[in-house]
Amino acid sequence: MKTLISGGTVVTAIDTVAADVLIDGEVIIAIGAPGTHGWADQADKVIDATGKYVVPGGIDPHTHMELPFGGTYASDTFESGTRAAAFGGTTTIIDFAVQVKGESLIDGFDTWMAKAEDECAIDYGFHMIAGDINEQSLSDMDVLIDRGCTSFKLFMAYPGVFYSDDGDILRAMQKAAATDSMIMMHAENGMAIDVLREQALERGETDPVHHSLTRPSVTESEATHRAIVLAELAGAHLYVVHMSAKEALEEIAEARDKGLPVFAETCPQYLFLNVEDHVASEGFEGAKYVCSTPIRKREDGHQDALWMGLATNDLQVVSTDHCPFCMDDHPILGTQKQLGVGDFTKIPNGLPGVEDRFQLIYHGGVVEGRIDLNRWIELTSTAAAKIFGMYPKKGTIAVGSDADIVVFDPDIDWTKSVSQHHMDVDYSPYEGKEVKGKVETVLLRGTVIVDGDEYLGQKGDGRYLQRERVSVHH
Ligand code: URP
Ligand code: ZN
Ligand code: ZN
Repeated sequence: MKTLISGGTVVTAIDTVAADVLIDGEVIIAIGAPGTHGWADQADKVIDATGKYVVPGGIDPHTHMELPFGGTYASDTFESGTRAAAFGGTTTIIDFAVQVKGESLIDGFDTWMAKAEDECAIDYGFHMIAGDINEQSLSDMDVLIDRGCTSFKLFMAYPGVFYSDDGDILRAMQKAAATDSMIMMHAENGMAIDVLREQALERGETDPVHHSLTRPSVTESEATHRAIVLAELAGAHLYVVHMSAKEALEEIAEARDKGLPVFAETCPQYLFLNVEDHVASEGFEGAKYVCSTPIRKREDGHQDALWMGLATNDLQVVSTDHCPFCMDDHPILGTQKQLGVGDFTKIPNGLPGVEDRFQLIYHGGVVEGRIDLNRWIELTSTAAAKIFGMYPKKGTIAVGSDADIVVFDPDIDWTKSVSQHHMDVDYSPYEGKEVKGKVETVLLRGTVIVDGDEYLGQKGDGRYLQRERVSVHH
């Protein structure tokens, strides 16, 4: 089956060119001048992309479908969450498999593989959350790397749940250095935060806003600094996840300027939401915006610093940390965010976003003049493919690459709302936001899975991605 995408402007992390794209089966076989002689005749299907951008499918390297957290589960399953991702122009996710205390790394990985298998609408891989570092876990890392899981997330936060101390972190980093795998870090000083949370509750400070206020930016920057020091000591690659504090970003910039293989991501919620307008909303509304690292104060200037970091490559990736919980009861999972009414420490942490990211970064980045078209693609697709061992199969439009392609209409104005999204969550953090640019058609390995408002794929279309070891240096 041959498909031709004709008349569009092909945008990659490098180029913006008027070109036609010819697909045979699952891969791109040619990119040529518009109207290249004979291509339309040999195509079984022609997609007219006149006036549209033809871009690589988005890669979201940080999602949590079905994550058990805070006494409930993230409300999107692999089925619902990946279908929503497809509507938003994302054709690959890397989710997090979880090892809980007392369980082996391999058992945790197998459990998550079983959850995702035959469910996903788009291609998927796994990082492994190592929640119990011991000799067996360190040796099991080799097994997972052979299975294409080449990145491991550690937590300096959440004592008693996922938390690792500095000794465990150093051991895991040494193993990662020896195996060319990536350490991903949730960098917050969880021990200090726990003291601040306890003291806030003693003062009767129970509203959602206190989630943000008890995680001051120094708890993020201190942990980021410590993670960098430990990674340097071990000679490991480090990727700091969901960064929200400008002071933490300064630590990343300094490490990169020294030439260390340190990378970092931020997420749309940190670029568009703030304490004053969102987390501090009346009543329990602020629970919608409770996540860790926290949404921070507008007046402190974090957002401008993060956008600047994205423009200058101090930050390399925009992921989502998609981890949705409903405000009202979920039909199957029951009470979610409301578990924290009267006690902010019990609000499940996380926000939806897997469907929003690609478009929001186009709007806030390209339309509002902070980054150019190529950087939009680099941040939302190409960089993640390179950092996490999937390039050039994923993350670009090139001969031989998977035909994961989005036809994007840059001229449509629309308003974001829970009423139009496909994620299984009962609110949108971006409700009422007016945006420009919309995903029109989405191809996964050559097959159209989204056409306007219509879903043409089926669960199980997505394949597990065997990822390579780390080969990026900077
Ligand atoms: O609030 C968040 N980020 N929830 C998901 C778990 C994590 O720490 O990434
Ligand atoms: Zn985290
Ligand atoms: Zn996360």
